[in-house]
Amino acid sequence: MTTTAAPFTDAEVTAIRGDFPILTRTVRDGRPLVYLDSGATSHKPWVVLAAEQEFYEKHNSAVHRGAHQLSEEGTELYEAARETIAGLVGAPAAEVVFTKNATESLNLVAYAFSNATYGGGGARGGLRQDGDAGDAGAERFVLRPGDEVLVTEMEHHANLVPWQELCRRTGATLRWVPVRGDGSLDLSRLDDLLTSRTRVFAFTHVSNVLGTVNPVRELTDRAHAVGALVVLDACQSAPHLALDVTDLDVDFLAFSGHKMFGPLGIGVLWGRAELLDAMPTFLTGGSMIETVTMEGSTYAPVPQKFEAGVPMAAQAIGLAAAVDYLTELGLERVTAHEQRLTAHLLDGIAARPWLRVVGPPTAAERGATVAFVVEVPGAPGERPQTVHAHDVGQVLDDRGVAVRVGHHCAWPLHRALGVVATTRATFAAYNTVGEVDALLEALDLVPGVFGLDVPDEQVPTRTPQEARA
Ligand code: ALA
Repeated sequence: MTTTAAPFTDAEVTAIRGDFPILTRTVRDGRPLVYLDSGATSHKPWVVLAAEQEFYEKHNSAVHRGAHQLSEEGTELYEAARETIAGLVGAPAAEVVFTKNATESLNLVAYAFSNATYGGGGARGGLRQDGDAGDAGAERFVLRPGDEVLVTEMEHHANLVPWQELCRRTGATLRWVPVRGDGSLDLSRLDDLLTSRTRVFAFTHVSNVLGTVNPVRELTDRAHAVGALVVLDACQSAPHLALDVTDLDVDFLAFSGHKMFGPLGIGVLWGRAELLDAMPTFLTGGSMIETVTMEGSTYAPVPQKFEAGVPMAAQAIGLAAAVDYLTELGLERVTAHEQRLTAHLLDGIAARPWLRVVGPPTAAERGATVAFVVEVPGAPGERPQTVHAHDVGQVLDDRGVAVRVGHHCAWPLHRALGVVATTRATFAAYNTVGEVDALLEALDLVPGVFGLDVPDEQVPTRTPQEARA
């Protein structure tokens, strides 16, 4: 990710940390919490907690229902939240659909294809007076055997399994762009993979394991040239990068609130108005309807058409507070700060030949994610000595350092990389260079704990006492 903005000063990071109450707590026998797992879920600043609390204290109601003042106020706040979140990605509010999380956003699009194919959940409903169920537009989403869905090998399961299931249901074929050893997409055969048979190309903006930032505009242009729709998974970019749907030129964009300082239980699907309008529904029930008879129903315009049930108003309002908070910090500066942390960790890993990073070698080519393996190269003909990521995670946790270990919901990617699991550090605006040092110091315990054959000079922070132990 490239930016010319200045990273936060130490004083600014201290002030940001003061906004996040959980960062004052200790873990594991009084150690300060070193939280390097924001890629899984981020912490929440006071303003987000306060916004949710204020909704429950003053305006708690079932929004878009009820004739009373609380419901009116709640509805206004909920719709204002939609405006704020739309503003973050440069979209009109009517193109923003609230979901439970990015996984649901991606499933919503996949199920729209499925429902179009099987005639379920028409675009406007089954029994309109004018006889128009909107299904003519929905033809665009019908999949038949011979049609193809394209993904990449670096997708996390949320942007893979829904497409696998869609293909299984419809008889379409799933294809994928392979990943190269350096963590970039292998685009050498893209012309064979992205053809007039491709109906949708779903890919991640930033890999949640490799940190790779994919060339969205190039991929989108090539998909559109063959008539495919583009679904962008922005889970690992929306919290860290300024995004604009016009610049990206994708057709759908999905992200979760909880990774960007917002509450759990709220996600976003942005889609082009004409596509959302033509798409069949996903979840059906109250609030998404226009008229209902015992024989059938017609549906409300977008975005309500996709928001069945009592909306998660408190969470949407909390997410809007998070977006305001991020905007005030300045996303460009957030990017610059996280890049500084990423570069510092990459340098630390490079100084330890028994750590091997996966993904691009420089911070400029990455998001705020660094995953690595503990691996001491063996003598010629001998296998390397390795430590499983779960064991590494336990050593780190004992020191109060929270990271994610395992396959990070990207199992096929780990297979392609030839590793069982990785240890992953992910950053947010509240992390410090000192925390990266704390991670490296904790990692320096690993060779001793697991008896790895590593010379002392390759363990920069090991104390003489630890070396003797
Ligand atoms: N996709 C999330 C992560 O990377 C859950 O941790």
